[in-house]
Amino acid sequence: MNTKEEISGVVELSRGVYWVGAIDWNGRDFHGFTTPGGTTYNSYLVIGKKTALIDTVKAPFAEEMLGRISKIIDPSKLDYIVVNHMEPDHSGSLAELKKQTNAKIIITKKGLDILNGYFREAGSEKWDIETVKTGDQLDLGGKTLIFLEATMLHWPDSMETFLKEDRILFSNDGFGQHIATSKRYDFEVGNVLPEAAEYYANILMPFHIALLRYFKLIEEMKIEPLQIAPSHGIIWKQDLEKILAEYKAWANGEVKEKVLVIYDTMWNSTEIMAKEITEAIWATGVKVKMLNLRKNARSLIMKEMLDAAAFAVGSPTLNNGVFPTVGDFLIYTKGLRPQKKKAIAFGSYGWGGGAVKIIEQELKNTGVDVLEPGLQVRYRPSEEDLEKCREIGKRLADVAKKQ
Ligand code: FEO
Repeated sequence: MNTKEEISGVVELSRGVYWVGAIDWNGRDFHGFTTPGGTTYNSYLVIGKKTALIDTVKAPFAEEMLGRISKIIDPSKLDYIVVNHMEPDHSGSLAELKKQTNAKIIITKKGLDILNGYFREAGSEKWDIETVKTGDQLDLGGKTLIFLEATMLHWPDSMETFLKEDRILFSNDGFGQHIATSKRYDFEVGNVLPEAAEYYANILMPFHIALLRYFKLIEEMKIEPLQIAPSHGIIWKQDLEKILAEYKAWANGEVKEKVLVIYDTMWNSTEIMAKEITEAIWATGVKVKMLNLRKNARSLIMKEMLDAAAFAVGSPTLNNGVFPTVGDFLIYTKGLRPQKKKAIAFGSYGWGGGAVKIIEQELKNTGVDVLEPGLQVRYRPSEEDLEKCREIGKRLADVAKKQ
């Protein structure tokens, strides 16, 4: 670890407002979300007559954050710590920080319940804690923090904080992306909308109703930010309108003329079917992606799923069930509940069969509109089977064109 003097990278967002977070250059997995580009845990320091730290960082990065805070103020002089969200990637350094400061913790009521679960010492050490709700304000002297509960974006406790004078929205998980970079702003790193889409698909997609509620709330509260500063990735300034428009489209489940063919294969029969379906879709002019589950991370597939109108899922039957990677995909997808999708199942078998029925049932349980019947072929697909694959491709392409 660097000494405090060596830690650099503090960035001033506006007068008296600083990024003091940490970069996780080597983070490659975020609770099942593959992050080949690493991530960041963003903390922000707001200095008025009093001082507030907005969010902390994952526990192993506490020293890095404290080093950056120390470039601006002595951490022991902090007056407030705003805990927008108790998931440990943002609250993990609280205990370390509390060793150095008596700052009052500002948190939602639901957040306090989680805090007491993660930090059992909070009660015995008599941590100074105040709960807030939507519309509450904290006057730092020249800087006013306004709190808004963003329930389920991403946990029940999630909150966002708006800095009134500078019009900066500290959005915590909302509008985040998993990118490790030495730059802090969108205009410094180029287009990060694809990373934001991947983040949304894997973290926030199940909560689209909460997101629609949130947009109504910020409109009612007249929250009109000039900067959106999330707790992962870069800060939105140049592309702020673009990311807001994308989030509204995603929350509404808007899809494109796009189809995915998602599969795994054992002895190539299911792959032969996948290729035939893919080429039939391609021939119609509809955008198609063929995604082998052993070659593509589940999180990348969910990014592609976000704006796809339809998809096919293929699996060989293995021990009367689906292939393990297909099972993983189905369970992961069920949790993320993609909206407004149509899908069809296909696969190969030797004697008992069963994978196609399992896929159909799991997709129905996910809320996907399943096109039946699916296609199950024995051993190698015959010419007649391949014709059925082409029909599936055309059917999926038609579905996508009608969106
Ligand atoms: Fe980035 Fe829900 O934590």
